[in-house]
Amino acid sequence: MSVSVTTGSPDLSCPESRGRELIRRLEQTQTLSRDEWSELIRGRTPALAEYLFRRAEKVRIAHYGRDIYIRGLIEFTSYCRNDCYYCGIRRSNSRTARYRLTKEEILSCCELGWTLGFRTFVLQGGEDGWFTDERLADIISSIRARWPECAITLSVGERSRASYQMLFDAGADRYLLRHETYDSEHYGKLHPPSLSAACRQQCLWDLKDIGYQVGAGFMVGSPFQTPENLADDMLFLKKLNPHMAGIGPFLPHHDTPFAQEPPGTLELTLYMLGLIRLMLPNVLLPATTALGTAAPDGRERGILAGANVVMPNLSPPSVREKYLLYDNKLHSGSEAAESLNELKARMEAIGYQVTVSRGDSLNR
Ligand code: 5AD
Repeated sequence: MSVSVTTGSPDLSCPESRGRELIRRLEQTQTLSRDEWSELIRGRTPALAEYLFRRAEKVRIAHYGRDIYIRGLIEFTSYCRNDCYYCGIRRSNSRTARYRLTKEEILSCCELGWTLGFRTFVLQGGEDGWFTDERLADIISSIRARWPECAITLSVGERSRASYQMLFDAGADRYLLRHETYDSEHYGKLHPPSLSAACRQQCLWDLKDIGYQVGAGFMVGSPFQTPENLADDMLFLKKLNPHMAGIGPFLPHHDTPFAQEPPGTLELTLYMLGLIRLMLPNVLLPATTALGTAAPDGRERGILAGANVVMPNLSPPSVREKYLLYDNKLHSGSEAAESLNELKARMEAIGYQVTVSRGDSLNR
């Protein structure tokens, strides 16, 4: 039987106080070793998470105040050449309805978005060969000509460096490309052999080098993920130092190979959001649609854990349910751009305000 001795100094063998010590050090130095990251992620308890969220919220307020930035998300094509095992719009899913917006439809989305107060448009889609560099560049330059002050964000997957450069020259400012998971072995369990972690990461380095504000990120609780995988994701984000970090829980889609896999949890996702805020105080951190889907108050809890961006859906309502990356993906209420008042009210209810601005990263 062990005997407890009161020494007056903190008991560092207790996971809770060790966790607090690591969180304090993370806040001071913005870095941890791989082993420490794994330990902190493994050692998560509800009380430790609450402690983390209080520190993360303080850091976020010190850097970005209580402003919440919004982005209008235009999901403009659900065609995709890739076959990622987790994704509902993967090539092999013959049961999903495919659509592609025309240039005029995309411009109408921006028009509506501008009127509503959006100053960033995110063009997101599957890797659709129809959208050649020329076609995309034409759409981008038309948006740029019509709304010179807006930010144009692309999220259209892996392309060549020359393609990224051409789209940048056409007027795109930012690019979102989640690295999904850093570890190449784990990457191989989520993707077909034609895709690799190394290629994915190279794209991010190219984008950054060209001058885009970049967003990387990963799924939380994806199949086969370990705390060490998440530790590697944190180390990669630290090294890349992206302007934005997009993370959300893995949620299964019924027509994918991962249909029966358990979803990632809201709690672990919130914890990772808080850790990212302490590691990268200046980063733009969205409370993602997947987080809002995982729980009715997921978005608010994301903000209270350190997030400061939300991306309501600006796609034409008729196509919204066709862009189904995972089951039950939200596309109405606060998730819909035209319900911005509801989103504003929900943010005000927790002490935050939605702002009309481009919401550039402080890292620029
Ligand atoms: N669950 C959660 N997120 C998903 N994504 C794709 N499929 C799923 C899923 N089943 C995420 C990926 C991708 C982003 C656009 O959506 O991280 O990068």
